[in-house]
Amino acid sequence: MFNVETIRKDFPILQRKVNGKPLVYFDNAATSQTPQQVIDAIVEYYSYYNANIHRGVHTLSQEATDKYEQARLKIQKHFNAKASHEIIMTSGTTHGINLVANGFASLLEKGDEIIVSALEHHSNIVPWQMLCERSGAILKVIPMNDEGALVMSAYADLLSEKTKLVFVNHISNALGTINPIEEIIQQAHAVGAAVLIDGAQACPHVKPDVQALDVDFYVASAHKMCGPTGVGMLYGKEEWLKKLPPYQGGGEMIAEVTFEKTTYADLPHKFEAGTPNICGGIAFGAAIDYMNAIGFDKIATYEHELLDYATAQLLNIPGLKIYGTSKQKTSVISFNLAGIHPYDVGTLLDKMGIAVRTGHHCAQPIMDYFKIPGTIRASFAFYNTRDEIDALVTAVQKAQLMLS
Ligand code: ALA
Repeated sequence: MFNVETIRKDFPILQRKVNGKPLVYFDNAATSQTPQQVIDAIVEYYSYYNANIHRGVHTLSQEATDKYEQARLKIQKHFNAKASHEIIMTSGTTHGINLVANGFASLLEKGDEIIVSALEHHSNIVPWQMLCERSGAILKVIPMNDEGALVMSAYADLLSEKTKLVFVNHISNALGTINPIEEIIQQAHAVGAAVLIDGAQACPHVKPDVQALDVDFYVASAHKMCGPTGVGMLYGKEEWLKKLPPYQGGGEMIAEVTFEKTTYADLPHKFEAGTPNICGGIAFGAAIDYMNAIGFDKIATYEHELLDYATAQLLNIPGLKIYGTSKQKTSVISFNLAGIHPYDVGTLLDKMGIAVRTGHHCAQPIMDYFKIPGTIRASFAFYNTRDEIDALVTAVQKAQLMLS
């Protein structure tokens, strides 16, 4: 049984007040909140077995290594990767994308084409522009439509034998659109291109199966799915990870070092230079356990109810416009009030205890498409409630009255 009131008790932060009002946390797309089970994993690590991993014979180091590698196995199982060495621990989604983009610099030739979508976060645009500067490859863009969905016929037209790589997000952070990644992957593979999916916004809502998707690379961050910041994962098919050169040099990623020549460690260590975020990795595993214990089917059903309810309630407010109206959508609502700057609304909502994100959401091309400076974004998680949505609607109405 999914019981939101029981779930809320796991999140100490949801008990606090902000500006004298009960916190209503609707900035989940920026970062999710942390349940006690994950906080406990962090406290336990630093209280009982804090040590460096893979390099000590002493007990603490072995315990830390075991727990860290167990976390990798949890991540492998969660994303259904074929092998645990296909899971590279990263500092987050941005790190994973940069690692792959850097590696492709040695695989691309001048005139090769790579394809991005109009719905991307800057972290899935800028590393590829840097790659184009280094390699002479050409960046093509799948356009979007007024609903905030990708124009798939235009995607088909962009694909050719020149296409080497396609990279799109699974779910748009700014609009909540769920992209048809199955179709995107199949069509890219038909012309021999590899595909990277940015799953940062999908992982709090769905459980991706990288083998069923047949995706080449999938990246995600722990902090979007109840884990800590500063840790994430890159899934790569073994054949691709073997082809890519290391991203950073250092300890951990070597087999042997002399001043004449260095040989690299096997996967996954080839891509894991330096001491990693050990505690973060272990807590990432605890977050995956926590979310799976609730169940992603239940989470998705509940969040859809919240999305439908909030959409209907907000649309009752005159002058309120929602951006991102695709039928395939997750629990993110980006909106504006006619004639009022989103920042002003966000500031007043905070005074009423409600946390939303305002601005361009690191997705300026989407804002340019709609010819707006930004939006107010309310993003819901499985621990939010209808009462909180009612509080948001009342607060938006108050803000509108004060700012008109
Ligand atoms: N990418 C995060 C967001 O959408 C930070 O807010």
